[in-house]
Amino acid sequence: MENLNFRRLRRLRYNPIIRDMVRETHLSKSDFIYPLFVVNGTNIKKEVSSMPGVYQQSIDNIVKECKECVELGIPAVLLFGIPEKKDEVGSDCYDDNGIIQRAVRAIKKEVKNLVVITDVCMCEYTSHGHCGIVKGDEILNDETIELLAKSALTHAQAGADIIAPSDMMDGRVAAIRAILDANGFEKIPLMSYSAKYASSYYGPFRDAAEGAPKFGDRKSHQMDFANSDEAIREIEEDIIEGADIVMVKPAGAYLDIIYRVKHEFGMPTAAYQVSGEYSMIKAAARLGWLEEEKIMLESLTAIKRAGADMIITYFAKDVARWMEKEK
Ligand code: PBG
Ligand code: ZN
Repeated sequence: MENLNFRRLRRLRYNPIIRDMVRETHLSKSDFIYPLFVVNGTNIKKEVSSMPGVYQQSIDNIVKECKECVELGIPAVLLFGIPEKKDEVGSDCYDDNGIIQRAVRAIKKEVKNLVVITDVCMCEYTSHGHCGIVKGDEILNDETIELLAKSALTHAQAGADIIAPSDMMDGRVAAIRAILDANGFEKIPLMSYSAKYASSYYGPFRDAAEGAPKFGDRKSHQMDFANSDEAIREIEEDIIEGADIVMVKPAGAYLDIIYRVKHEFGMPTAAYQVSGEYSMIKAAARLGWLEEEKIMLESLTAIKRAGADMIITYFAKDVARWMEKEK
């Protein structure tokens, strides 16, 4: 065994201190954005059956959650609203006094040092569960973006710090940017769900947000999961229209897309570890088939390693607590 020519790559793995020194990717609490589901009423905290540890909550409890996030060092929340009444045109979505608008006002009044991001889409607000105005079996694009823009404006007026359109209509970023700018909100950033795939990983979210389509699917606006170049066109278009942060969604099964997007555009890039990714880990952990904390850290680290600058995750509070414990 003399003069064998090989490198001893294990040298840097023999002890934990050295491993720490050469680690390339570090998760930080400031990477995380925590999604929250707001419902009407008071003192409501109802667990989503397919998402253990995730709740629909009334505004009073949402405010408490937000304070907890600040204490844990989580910089931002992403709000989804479930209105009392849904109708054909999703009125609550652009109502000054809608569920999200009231929630944002309450949070802004009571919580300091937290970035409040609002999701803009119509599917939680329409009786048919589609992401826009429906005629026959078609989701109308231009009629919808007008209402999305109206909705974004009411969010900004309520005090939202960042607006996040998740609808995947064409031209929504331009429409939202224009209405915000025309009303003195030129400083509000847009975090666009730019490469959002038509994904079965959203299943549990539809229980949480009660926004499942009553007929048909989302394939006429969300992307085909077989496509990668198309994601580049979607991202490019959103940047041209004024997106400040671009997003890839889902995350875990789309690491190649996150990687490409980060490298081709060099934009602040968000990734959404969606409901199904969370529920799969939770379910396997409950069965004793996976170690929850370890899988949680591995999945989030992989998303960051792929190129995500920030991660929207239902694990945000759990990871933050875990990181605190590990110190
Ligand atoms: C609304 C929206 C969805 C998600 C975020 N915003 C559902 C969908 O498009 O059907 C999914 C989030 C998740 O699964 O965690 N358009
Ligand atoms: Zn939608």
